[in-house]
Amino acid sequence: ELVYLNGWTGTFDEATISVNDRGFNFGDGIYEVVRVYESRLFAMDDHLDRLERSAKAIDLDLPWQKQELTAITEELLAESGISEAMVYIQVSRGTAHRNHIYNEEIKPNILVTVRSVPERSPAMYQNGVKLITQPEFRWQMCHVKSISLLGNVLAKNRAHRAGAAEAVFVHPDGTVTECSASNIFIYSNGQLLTHPADNKILAGITRKHVLAAAESLNLPFAEKPFKINELMKAEEVFFTGTIVELVPVVEVDGQSVAGGKPGPVTAKLHQEFTSLRK
Ligand code: PDD
Repeated sequence: ELVYLNGWTGTFDEATISVNDRGFNFGDGIYEVVRVYESRLFAMDDHLDRLERSAKAIDLDLPWQKQELTAITEELLAESGISEAMVYIQVSRGTAHRNHIYNEEIKPNILVTVRSVPERSPAMYQNGVKLITQPEFRWQMCHVKSISLLGNVLAKNRAHRAGAAEAVFVHPDGTVTECSASNIFIYSNGQLLTHPADNKILAGITRKHVLAAAESLNLPFAEKPFKINELMKAEEVFFTGTIVELVPVVEVDGQSVAGGKPGPVTAKLHQEFTSLRK
C-alpha cells in the first residue's frame, strides 16, 4: 500500500491533510478508481477523460495535465511493487476555512493511493448475486464522479444488511438507472440494454468496454432506459464496475430473475471484455 498526497509519498498511517480540506468538510471533490492488471493501468485515458469532465462540471480547474497524473500514478505503482492493484485518485477543491463560497484562487488537493485489488469471491460469478431496489433519491448530476456519495453509501449499506451485493436505483416511473457503485445491464429479446450515459448515471468505464465487447461479438445493444418490470423478466441481468468487472444477478428483492442462474451472454461478454483489454 502506498499514498501520494500533494507531492509527498508515504504510508496510509503517515499521510495527513488539513481538517479544512473541502473534501473533508463538504465532499467538494471528485475521484476515480482505476484497475491495474499485471502492473499496467487499465483504461487510464478513459478515467482521466472522465476526471476532466467531472472537474469541468463542478468548475474545478485541474492544475495537472493528464500526462502528469499518469506519471504520478505510474511512479507510485512502481514504488508499491503491487501488480494487481486498485488505484484511487481523489481531487478536492482545496483547503480553506469552512465557507460554502470558495475562493477561485484555491489550490486543489490531490490524493493517489495504490492497494492490492480486494478479493472477489468466485461464487459471485459462478452463482450470481442478489440485488435490492432503492428509490432513486440522488441528485441530478450523477454523471459527475463526486466524492459526495451519501446516497450511494446509504443504498449500498441497505443492500449489505439485506444480504444483497448491490442496490439498484429505480425512479418513481419504474426507470432503472444504475446501482450504488456500478452500472446495470439487461439482456432481453436478443438485445443488450443499459441506461444512456446522461446526467442520471455515471458513465462507467467498464460499461463502455462492455459495450465495445458487445460490438465485437456482433451482439445487438442499445443505450436506452428500461423499467424494473423489464429487468424482472429479462433473460439475463448483470452489473459492471472497475473492480468487480461483470457480475451476474439472479435475485431482486427476494424474487428470482434471469432463471435464477448466471447466463451465457453475461459470461461471453465477460470473456470478450477480458480478451479486449489484453
Ligand atoms: N464506482 N456508477 C457508480 C455510481 C459508481 O460509483 C461506479 C464506480 C460505476 C461504474 O464505473 P466504472 O466502470 O468506471 O468503475 C457506476 C467505483 C468503482 C467506486 O466508487 O469504488
